[in-house]
Amino acid sequence: AAWLMVFLFFWEHYSSVVCLSEFTRDDFPADFVFGAGTSAFQYEGAWAEDGKSPSIWDTFTHEGWVGGRTADMASDGYHKYKGDIKLMSDTGLEAYRLSISWPRLLPNGRGAVNPKGLMYYNNVIDELIKHGIQPHVTLHHLDVPQVLQDEYGGWLSPKIIDDFKELADVCFKEFGDRVSYWTTMNEPNINSLASFDYGFFPPRRCSHPYGANCSGGNSAVEPYITVHNYILAHSAAAELYRKKYQTIQKGQIGINIYTIWFTPLTNSTEDAMATKRALDFILGWILNPILFGEYPDSMKKNAGSRLPFFSYLESQRVKGSCDFIGINYYFALYVADDPVIDKIGPRDSSSDMFAKFTAYKNVPPVSRILPPTALINDFESLWKLLNYLKKTYRNPPIFVHENGYGFGVIDTMNDVGRTYFLSGFIRSVLDSIRNGVDVRGYFIWTFVDAFELLSGYSTRFGLYHVNFEGSGHERTPKFSAYWYHNFLKNGTSIK
Ligand code: NOJ
Repeated sequence: AAWLMVFLFFWEHYSSVVCLSEFTRDDFPADFVFGAGTSAFQYEGAWAEDGKSPSIWDTFTHEGWVGGRTADMASDGYHKYKGDIKLMSDTGLEAYRLSISWPRLLPNGRGAVNPKGLMYYNNVIDELIKHGIQPHVTLHHLDVPQVLQDEYGGWLSPKIIDDFKELADVCFKEFGDRVSYWTTMNEPNINSLASFDYGFFPPRRCSHPYGANCSGGNSAVEPYITVHNYILAHSAAAELYRKKYQTIQKGQIGINIYTIWFTPLTNSTEDAMATKRALDFILGWILNPILFGEYPDSMKKNAGSRLPFFSYLESQRVKGSCDFIGINYYFALYVADDPVIDKIGPRDSSSDMFAKFTAYKNVPPVSRILPPTALINDFESLWKLLNYLKKTYRNPPIFVHENGYGFGVIDTMNDVGRTYFLSGFIRSVLDSIRNGVDVRGYFIWTFVDAFELLSGYSTRFGLYHVNFEGSGHERTPKFSAYWYHNFLKNGTSIK
């Protein structure tokens, strides 16, 4: 019996990881979708065209916080979507993830719908459907209307919940006949930290001595308040969808969270506990409420009264407010326990990836170009994450809505390194499916080069190169575009 236990243990944990054989598209379930994504602010450009009002990201970039780079034109997707969708179809994309620009659709943040904005998204969605590409639509990805920021402070105020619900209502009503996969919002967990703890996203609020050009915030509480508002807004939109639209439109609704896989730096109990805290503080912060109706215990314990609480009714509403979860995954980090940082909150979690983890970041250099062998270990991190989600959250349906390789990639068409990286992660997804994880799709970030949040145009995640210097913003396939095409359309295997 003991031997059987040992065998079963290894089988469960390692059987799929050690399988290194080649695979093809057909090894994935038939209804699994392969896609790519972009977001409105990073892709569309046309920042002040056809009635669009500015978002907080327009203001932020115009103030020069991204080295003078702006997304005024970005990838010029507002004018080039048709050609891009043709390219998607030629490439073999089965799905495409996009977001709706709130200030393009509702320039006042609420109320009057901008007819040109409405027309743009109708055109994009129609074009996708025409080419048999499944749209996955994120209602809100970063670009809060500046008017709402000015009026009440954006996501810091619970007033945003009703306005967000209105945005959702317009989208479900206008686009829901053709959109079957919705996510309410993108990465509330990391956005709240970046905007209200580290201060390097607008509105640049924080209270750290080492905060990045930020001012006026209170890092100890504002990230928690913001996420609380995000979660309540998410559940309000999900409830609306379920009550008013889902039975007719038959779509599904989820949320996108930023994920990192955390591994203990040493095998000490302290590091193991710090790792669990990090997982709770980054993933559980959103997933525990929306799947179980409450924040994780470790958060309640460490953040104490700074963590808002859900009333009984709110908790009931929030719980189960997802048909699937969308994860955005890029890298893994080591975690070491640090009692000092833990004590001086808001570093409640040992999950301070930007200030603290960087010191331990000798492992997961997947964001740099490395020989493929050096990356192999790290691909397993996605497998581990997916299996952790299965185990911890009772096997929810999952879309890997973002995975990519952009930092450190030089401006070249010859991005072979990107394909090693993506191959490893796609293998990890297949292994997870074979291990019983309910993964339903995989999306590469990004389809074409786009404006990257803090680095502008020097970071190129795209399968297609965009000539940002020329006024034509021409698209050119990179090696990775051919590679994806061969995998999706020609039955070419990934080794
Ligand atoms: C996640 C964000 O959703 C996206 O906007 C960003 O460009 C990528 N990560 C890459 O940093």
